Amino acid sequence: MTYHFSLSLSLYLLLFTYFPSNSQSNQFCKTDIGIGEVGCGILSPPSSTTKLLIKGGTVVNAHHQEFADVYVEDGIIVAVEPNLRELCYVRFFAELAESNAKWNKVGDDVKVIDATGKYVMPGGIDPHTHLAMEALNTESVDDFFSGQAAALAGGTTMHIDFVIPVNGSLTAGLEVYEEKAKKSCMDYGFHMVITKFDDIVSRDMEIMVKEKGINSFKFFLAYKGVLMVNDELLLEGLKRCKSLGALAMVHAENGDAVFEGQKRMIQLGITGPEGHALSRPPLLEGEATARAIRLAGFVNTPLYVVHVMSIDAMEEIARARKSGLLYLISSFLFYYWLSSTIYEFGNKDDVPFKAFIVTTRLLYVLLAVVPGSVANYFPKCVALLSSLLPSLAFIKTSRNLSYGTLNRVVKCTSTTRFYSRHIGQRVVGEPVVSGLVLDDSRLWDSDFTTASKYVMSPPIRASGHGKALQGALSNGVLQLVGTDHCVFNSTQKAFGIDDFRKIPNGVNGIEERMHLVWDTMVESGQISITDYVRVTSTEWIFNMYPRKGAIIPGSDADIIILNPHSTFEINARSHHSRTDTNVYEGRRGKGKVEVTIAGGRVVWENNELKVVPGSGKYIKMAPFSYLFSGLDRADASYLSSLNAPVNRFKSTT
Ligand code: URP
Ligand code: ZN
Ligand code: ZN
Repeated sequence: MTYHFSLSLSLYLLLFTYFPSNSQSNQFCKTDIGIGEVGCGILSPPSSTTKLLIKGGTVVNAHHQEFADVYVEDGIIVAVEPNLRELCYVRFFAELAESNAKWNKVGDDVKVIDATGKYVMPGGIDPHTHLAMEALNTESVDDFFSGQAAALAGGTTMHIDFVIPVNGSLTAGLEVYEEKAKKSCMDYGFHMVITKFDDIVSRDMEIMVKEKGINSFKFFLAYKGVLMVNDELLLEGLKRCKSLGALAMVHAENGDAVFEGQKRMIQLGITGPEGHALSRPPLLEGEATARAIRLAGFVNTPLYVVHVMSIDAMEEIARARKSGLLYLISSFLFYYWLSSTIYEFGNKDDVPFKAFIVTTRLLYVLLAVVPGSVANYFPKCVALLSSLLPSLAFIKTSRNLSYGTLNRVVKCTSTTRFYSRHIGQRVVGEPVVSGLVLDDSRLWDSDFTTASKYVMSPPIRASGHGKALQGALSNGVLQLVGTDHCVFNSTQKAFGIDDFRKIPNGVNGIEERMHLVWDTMVESGQISITDYVRVTSTEWIFNMYPRKGAIIPGSDADIIILNPHSTFEINARSHHSRTDTNVYEGRRGKGKVEVTIAGGRVVWENNELKVVPGSGKYIKMAPFSYLFSGLDRADASYLSSLNAPVNRFKSTT
């Protein structure tokens, strides 16, 4: 029996060994080349295999990581357990006993992927893209095929794009985007932009939410005369969003002031790309962010601030999220509990260790009560302390910590962060990769092509802002990373050679996001690997969890395998986007997505893409995410606190 078992297992191994297909060029759908034409990359269909066994890796979810194998069938994750190979074998062996034919059937279509020493994580979800978006009489060059192909090559398996209405009409806008998205090769969803508000728009918003699966609406506070809305419209929109359980999103820059800033620059003779940054400084982003937050607070509805690019905007979000005495008291209690738990793991006779715990508790209270701008960094301090303590416990402890203990420490840390993220006003802040890792210096480059490729709005800020945004991402003030991928090639960017106002706005990132966030945030020790999953696959905000963003039985099989020991290098020659420049040109880093699986199919492996236009699915997103829970109770207590209207006696004299 044992002999038979080993023989069968060897045969099984032999049978399932993967033979990679011929390697082909990375270049994918260059500008002006259509899908299927020569030069539009590989269109070899993904393997027909619908059964995958990913073995030997560390499976990482947003709140947990474990050594486990992952078994996938027909696009769905079926099992996540250690040693699935044996389980599969047993299952298969039982089938074999039934019929010999099943040996071949099972053996032929299970692909085994060895992930030993690598991380097996949910595919990235990019919450902010603009594929084939029309702007300044042109269209961004990555469409729903080339942009998505680039995404898959970089480990992103779903994105949410912004539908732009046609003359204010949501239904007309959606029709246009449904057409654009027909060539999709990965799953996607939509946010809807609102540019005007009347009864028809109000009714259409309901249709979008209830019938079309759109659960978020975006309001531009900038781009005067094109997309910008005023406060009156924003208020109407916020109210409607609240009633529908849809998330209101804002592009937060003061569009009137930007218009003024642009005139000022032109009058000063500053017409180059640097004029773009100078015309819309951080304070205009801070002002609009604060205004939007306050209006959302007034309506009592959640708010999502897209592309947070400056300290000014980030601090407004920090202030809103930490507001409330409840926050201070409860987060202290959490910290107290955390430090006690960690103290348990340490050497209790160690006096300096005990002193450290007591001092940090005092420090915590002090930080919590300091008024003014230092208080804005309070959440950062929470994160710092909660990150410091586990490390110190490891150093101080005289015995090796078991896997279970480590797990408890990690859970304590992430629970504290989780808690500090969910108190105060319900504001979600989204940094984008360009804001996290770049600075504005290249906008002053003497070469127009180089400088103009960095033009986006809000602008990439002076050095210092990026580092602060990274800190805010690590401590939970900002929640998830987008890209705002919206690429125009150097010919299109040159429309603004004499006037920065005519340079189409936008930078790349859909392919680079997963690598850059890993390298910048995880490799540097700023966030944990579980946090990486949370910030790159939308942290439940768009209500797709656990279908998306998780590796658990029943979830869609959108999976990446990241090798933390491999390196990546970014350049326009080898990227898969259609654009001819790359704002991350020459960047190298650690951690490489070696395999991308989308909908249960291996679409990226051995640096080779295998994608098919039309294979991507539209993902409907339901309203009333967790951000809405309890709002009705808050409204009720607000109404009962009013003590109004006051019943007054009418004077009869
Ligand atoms: O420059 C940018 N961000 N372009 C895309 C449109 C937007 O504002 O999100
Ligand atoms: Zn925007
Ligand atoms: Zn955008």
